[in-house]
Amino acid sequence: MNKMKIMTIFGTRPEAIKMAPLVKKLNHHNQIDCIVAVTAQHREMLDQVLDLFQIEADYDLDIMSDQQTLVDITVKVLKELDQVLKKEEPDLILVHGDTTTTFIGALSSFYNQIDIGHVEAGLRTNDKYSPYPEEMNRHLTGVLTDLNFAPTINNKKNLLKENVDSEKIFVTGNTVIDAIKEIVQDDYRFKNQVLKNINFSEKKIILLTAHRRENIGKGLSSIFKAINRLTQQNPDTEVVFPVHLNPAVRKTAQKYLGKNKKVHLIEPLGYQEFANLMSRSYFIMTDSGGIQEEAPGLGKPVLVLRDTTERQEAIKAGTVKKVGVEQEVIFKAANKLINNQKEYEIMSKATNPYGDGKAVNRIIDYILYNYNIKKNKPEPYGVV
Ligand code: UD1
Ligand code: UDP
Repeated sequence: MNKMKIMTIFGTRPEAIKMAPLVKKLNHHNQIDCIVAVTAQHREMLDQVLDLFQIEADYDLDIMSDQQTLVDITVKVLKELDQVLKKEEPDLILVHGDTTTTFIGALSSFYNQIDIGHVEAGLRTNDKYSPYPEEMNRHLTGVLTDLNFAPTINNKKNLLKENVDSEKIFVTGNTVIDAIKEIVQDDYRFKNQVLKNINFSEKKIILLTAHRRENIGKGLSSIFKAINRLTQQNPDTEVVFPVHLNPAVRKTAQKYLGKNKKVHLIEPLGYQEFANLMSRSYFIMTDSGGIQEEAPGLGKPVLVLRDTTERQEAIKAGTVKKVGVEQEVIFKAANKLINNQKEYEIMSKATNPYGDGKAVNRIIDYILYNYNIKKNKPEPYGVV
């Protein structure tokens, strides 16, 4: 029998991290021929992940440009991917999450009448402009999708509300849990010189990341002002901020935090360094999506620097708090976590509502079942 031809399409750091364990398994599967197409919507930050997981792309569209607009990404990916899809004619493409690569990957495949599998389907804020443009990217991808891989039951419910056929939704857990399990080690030694010199047992180290398009400008400046107040008032607290390569983020970070000696502005870290930094830090402040899923499993409290989040499970479990982007609110919440041991302990209970490390196997088994290559329907991931 011919092998099933599956093309994975991704382009940014978080997609690569979450697709890496899936690509690895697809590459070694005896019933599947796997093709990897990267848009390179990110360049250096994508390459860091490809190198770590030793993934070689069959197609690299290399589309990133400095300060690219949504239209730049859309037009380039749509044009270039069309040629790749016409040449390869895969049976199924797999996209991940909510980036513009994701949506345009799905749109190109639809134009070529190729089936679409959406990994990390069904997350919703139901707020058109928050996160922007991710909420609509995920939604629009969903409209085109044939097979929805929902990380949690909650995500499945969101899709059912939109009248998606329940046979086309499969709950898998999030593949990021598969990825992180491989990588955090108690005896890990940092390679980054700044991290090597930090005394994690004597200082309270806050890990900060912030990059969202809707936070650029006012949001970022009020986050950074809150950080300056925090380090002024708490002498044994330091902040590590691996700064995203977006020039708009870097300019604002430098402006507000560049002179603060208690804030370490460093380059984006490889995933192994970053994951181990999460596990050593006292708590995390972030506007990232993926970090909200990784940190609860490591027992690290997270303050989410966004007005909305599509990841409600860890908020319900009590390990993640949404604090928004107002300076005063951020300052108060973080100051409380630094100084109130009881609050800290409540939030640092390790919980893992996002997966059990077996998402990749479930996704592959469900694909094979859906295309009548495997007889038995796999068991879904069942944590509510
Ligand atoms: C993108 C995604 C966002 C995701 C984020 C993860 C869209 C519209 N946005 O946002 O959903 O959460 O990635 O990080 O899909 N840059 C580099 N090198 C890199 C990466 C970025 O120089 O390796 C710079 C470039 O100047 C680029 C800019 O950052 O133009 C912005 O990159 P872009 O992918 O458009 O937006 P992100 O904010 O990274
Ligand atoms: N990450 C990383 N290095 C860094 C910062 C983040 O490897 O310096 C990882 C992080 O562990 C998570 C992912 O990148 O898996 C999140 O990426 P990002 O915040 O860029 O995107 P989002 O999750 O918001 O889409």
